[in-house]
Amino acid sequence: MPERRRIASLPDRLPDRLTALRTPADPGFWRSPVRGVRFTAVLGLVLLVGLTLLFVTGLLSYAAYNPDLDPVNDKTPDKGLLGFYLFAWPTGPHWLYRLTQGLHVTVGIVLVPVLLAKLWSVIPRLFALPPARSVGHALERISLLLLVGGALFEFLTGLLNIQLDYLFPGSFYTLHFYGAWVFLAGFVAHVALKLPQAVRVLRSGIPRGEPDTPAAPDPLAAPDPLPATLSRRGALAMVGAGSLLLLITSAGRSFDGPLRRIALLTPRGGTEQGPGPNAFQVNKTAAAVRITPADTGERWRLTVRGPAGELRFSRAELLAMEQHSAALPIACVEGWSTSDQLWRGVRLSDLAALAGYPDSPPDVFVESLQRSGSFRKAALRDNQVRDGRSLLALEVNGAPLSPDHGYPARIIVPAAPGVLNTKWVETLTFGEL
Ligand code: HEM
Repeated sequence: MPERRRIASLPDRLPDRLTALRTPADPGFWRSPVRGVRFTAVLGLVLLVGLTLLFVTGLLSYAAYNPDLDPVNDKTPDKGLLGFYLFAWPTGPHWLYRLTQGLHVTVGIVLVPVLLAKLWSVIPRLFALPPARSVGHALERISLLLLVGGALFEFLTGLLNIQLDYLFPGSFYTLHFYGAWVFLAGFVAHVALKLPQAVRVLRSGIPRGEPDTPAAPDPLAAPDPLPATLSRRGALAMVGAGSLLLLITSAGRSFDGPLRRIALLTPRGGTEQGPGPNAFQVNKTAAAVRITPADTGERWRLTVRGPAGELRFSRAELLAMEQHSAALPIACVEGWSTSDQLWRGVRLSDLAALAGYPDSPPDVFVESLQRSGSFRKAALRDNQVRDGRSLLALEVNGAPLSPDHGYPARIIVPAAPGVLNTKWVETLTFGEL
């Protein structure tokens, strides 16, 4: 018996330089004095609020594409039951998508240090052996796999997509959508299991940064801690400072002026576009989608289809129709947005009337001249066509559209994601989607 005790405690008595011989499965391998359930619980509660907001705004972002309207809006196959919550995306308030998507991307960026700190705080548990002690424990470990794998996957695909424009052409929505539901399954199970513990620990008054008493053993505290160089409060402050820095350098891409200039870390932040009516942010340029001046010159015609047949209009004919104005922003799925721009053009509902729907405009299918790139075609719902601010815009801020903003004509609809505001429009087909 004394011999067994001697062997069991041997690693604890090894000099520091020999601790490298321990494996991650030994509790003594992890020696940071910062780890502890209180530290983990604080980060967990921040994640509970932040990830819930992230999930809800993510679902809203998906609904904003009207994915149940037409397969061109979204090719996610077999979403079936997961599409239960989809609804007709409204057109008001006109800044709705600017808000929901700006929040989604900003919260996702700001939570990165919190997520990494949370994973760091529980890493000894991921190596604990045996991997499963019972059927219940095995199920819990599987839910952790969904949680950790799902969280890392969602953050990675989201960040790559905003930083490297269209890295996953056509497949980002599918990957990010299914990944979110996998993550949610693990998240719900984890919160159900750990929330009571997190609340108890934070209420119970275990002294902050103090070693735990034998009466309240801390399952995450190092059994053989190194001398502290930072308190737990200090470590939490560092995580908070990291998140604050990310907030300052990213959130401003949704605002003009100084805020955009300090948004150095995200696309469409950092610099302003200079003076001029067309000087506001562009997602894809005409050159990027291979549109030439010949495509948009004198020979360009808009085709409008409906029960009245197939009508064709030159830009001059469109300019001769009744013109309407609307002050609307461009809000991108990547989280950046512009302030309201003053668009002018023909109401979509007026074009629907010409196409043979004088009383109640139906859905419309929009096709662009663009030769490459995603969202060459998009469907808009009847409520969007009906809104008097939904235009086939010909001008912006008092000048003709620039080639990069969609000359000769583009769609602009209140509260719709930027990519549904199709540029370089060639054909509008009303009804029978
Ligand atoms: C993406 C989000 C999250 C990830 C990736 C994550 C990951 C983990 C992992 C891997 C563990 C170790 C589990 C074990 O082996 O026992 C853990 C423990 C814990 N988590 Fe989370 N978690 C997340 C969110 C949360 C939330 C929202 C809460 C609070 C409600 C929370 C509270 C806790 C607590 C209190 C523990 C300590 C359990 C213990 O060792 O006694 N976590 N977390």
